[in-house]
Amino acid sequence: MPVPPEIVARVEELRKLIHRYNYEYYVLDQPSVSDAEYDALMQELRQLEAQYPELITPDSPTQRVGAPPATGFQPVRHALPMLSLSNVFTEAELRNWAERVMRLLKASNLDFVTEPKVDGLAVSIIYENGVYTRGATRGDGFEGEDVTANIRTIKSVPLRLYPPPGVMLPRVLEVRGEVYMNVADFERLNEEIAKQNEQRAAAGQRPLPLFANPRNAAAGSLRQLDSRITASRPLRFAAWDIGVWEGTEPPRYHHEALDFLRQLGIPVVPDYTVHHSVDEVWQACMRWQERRASLPFEADGVVIKVDDRTVYDQLGVVGREPRWATAYKFPAIEKTTVIRGVEWSVGRTGKLTPVALLEPVEIGGAVIERATLHNEDEIARLGVMIGDAVVVQRRGDVIPKITAVILARRDGDEQPITPPEHCPVCGAQAVRLEGEADRYCVNPNCPARLKASIQHFASRNAMDIEGLGEKVAELFVDLGLIQSLPDIYYLDWNRIRQLEGFGAKRVENLQRAIERSKERPLARFLYALGIRHVGERNARILAEQFVSIDRIERATLEELLTLPGFGPTVAQAIVTFFQEPRNREMIERFRAAGVRMSEERGEETRTRQGPLVGKTVVLTGRLQSMTRSQAEEALRLAGATVTSSVSRNTDYVFAGEDPGSKYQRAQQLGVPILDEEALLQLLRESGIDIPQETAIS
Ligand code: IVH
Repeated sequence: MPVPPEIVARVEELRKLIHRYNYEYYVLDQPSVSDAEYDALMQELRQLEAQYPELITPDSPTQRVGAPPATGFQPVRHALPMLSLSNVFTEAELRNWAERVMRLLKASNLDFVTEPKVDGLAVSIIYENGVYTRGATRGDGFEGEDVTANIRTIKSVPLRLYPPPGVMLPRVLEVRGEVYMNVADFERLNEEIAKQNEQRAAAGQRPLPLFANPRNAAAGSLRQLDSRITASRPLRFAAWDIGVWEGTEPPRYHHEALDFLRQLGIPVVPDYTVHHSVDEVWQACMRWQERRASLPFEADGVVIKVDDRTVYDQLGVVGREPRWATAYKFPAIEKTTVIRGVEWSVGRTGKLTPVALLEPVEIGGAVIERATLHNEDEIARLGVMIGDAVVVQRRGDVIPKITAVILARRDGDEQPITPPEHCPVCGAQAVRLEGEADRYCVNPNCPARLKASIQHFASRNAMDIEGLGEKVAELFVDLGLIQSLPDIYYLDWNRIRQLEGFGAKRVENLQRAIERSKERPLARFLYALGIRHVGERNARILAEQFVSIDRIERATLEELLTLPGFGPTVAQAIVTFFQEPRNREMIERFRAAGVRMSEERGEETRTRQGPLVGKTVVLTGRLQSMTRSQAEEALRLAGATVTSSVSRNTDYVFAGEDPGSKYQRAQQLGVPILDEEALLQLLRESGIDIPQETAIS
């Protein structure tokens, strides 16, 4: 039966598209479609080729993996090919894969290892006699690029291996793994590039392109001909396999191989786990899927491997994909769609946020119709216009965002996005101050601001008033029942009872919820007020430190600056808030309504439990993670007394860099001297939050 001509045409079209996207992705590091779309095209092509094998040609993208190495680096042949992975998308597909493996091995059960599928680029790292001798990219799996100098700059990659006692190093050890970037590092890098671009623009130079995602940032950073640039980039490495192994007996099990690498100080994929059944494997996949949004790095799936390496040869390889491993791919978090318009939403600070109105797309199980564009700078950065095809990303519960514009799809009908001169809700002026990225509605009584403030005030982590959500807040503001926040406590219930949908039961519940909210702890009330830069953490510190709102009203800038993590911006925002007569009046009305405004427990709020309670401590030297006064304040919060000189009564001396004479004095008196790491640990154990970076294990 001849192949229908529309099939022939579609196959040709798919190949062309995939070829172009491949080039953009692998060679330019500037993809124009999301991975999910690319995967879908490949999948469609594979299916058509399976149905009509006569259409398969050697140059089809299904017949090769990856792309040719970019010129400039020396080609390297891999002694053992670097394979790729088959994919499964559902539990049934996973079970099929595992059952086939067990059938081939005539095994009734099998152990598997699961690992996150870190989204970066695969590399091979060779150690000879424990010394790093070569780093190479995967390339097409057979031949990659020699990036020895570049990988050498990745600080987590050991340049020499020191085996612990009793551990024999193989003469040649090939470590395979992923070079990648953490999401936070990637965002910081893009910010830095954006800053450089401002300077370049001033100097009349062309802007440097920003990276579309952490994976491209990692690839672009590693494949720099000038490895000094690589050195300045926050690249990381995580091993997921061994390759060549000569001189000793290689480990029998995959998990042993990873354990071995870990013992040698080589970073390994985090939380790899052995499972004794497919049920367990699937549960692990679901757990990773839940953790996905909170991981410091991007992961696009879970890799599942047979633990026993001795059966790998028997299982063999299909094309480039070994039968002994597969990848469970998470549902897409990125899709492409079209921007139909832009709406400017007004937040509780008066900030106008551009929101893109999208042609609805389904992403990871939800239909997305709106995505934030953050602010005018972001619109300029993306170069986005109305009518553009864009990449939309949705991760976890976060508001979806637009990450890229697909310029190739422009047809000339796109319209520029112009920020409004007036607030779209109240019509007051909308101004953008010098040096700020955002535009603000100048009217403090703007109904949009009030509605958003009420919603925040009543939200779960603030005053937690059930029944006072978005809809009710809108209604009460529109009816004039709430004209400022404290009005929540002076509602005209007789009028509310006459409103449609407000039956006796509902009114009673709302009344009770509002009444109960008066008893919330001070920290919650402070957070509920919506003072700029006072989130839950800072609100808690303020409440613990000052105990009552009157004390906070009187706090000076200097006092506020001594609080842990409080910089000039935060401190100034608090002072400004309480200087504003309107805000003082508002607080008086809250007080008159009976809202609790102090911890009422006085000083003893500070005496909590923990290792530092009642200890007398002394600080000396410079600390890395905080200023001296922040450390003192944190120690006091933890229940310690901070003194300035060392005596026999001193429990600990905390020494930073270049400690002074107190250090010697402590040594003479035999007072325990602890370093900054220990200080942070003790503070953490005392329940004091210290911001810290999450890193891979
Ligand atoms: S194992 C046959 N394990 O995914 C074994 N790969 O789609 C080859 N990747 O080229 C790969 N995390 O770049 C493996 N834990 C992991 C991985 C992982 C990320 C990447 C790797 C590979 C690609 C295959």
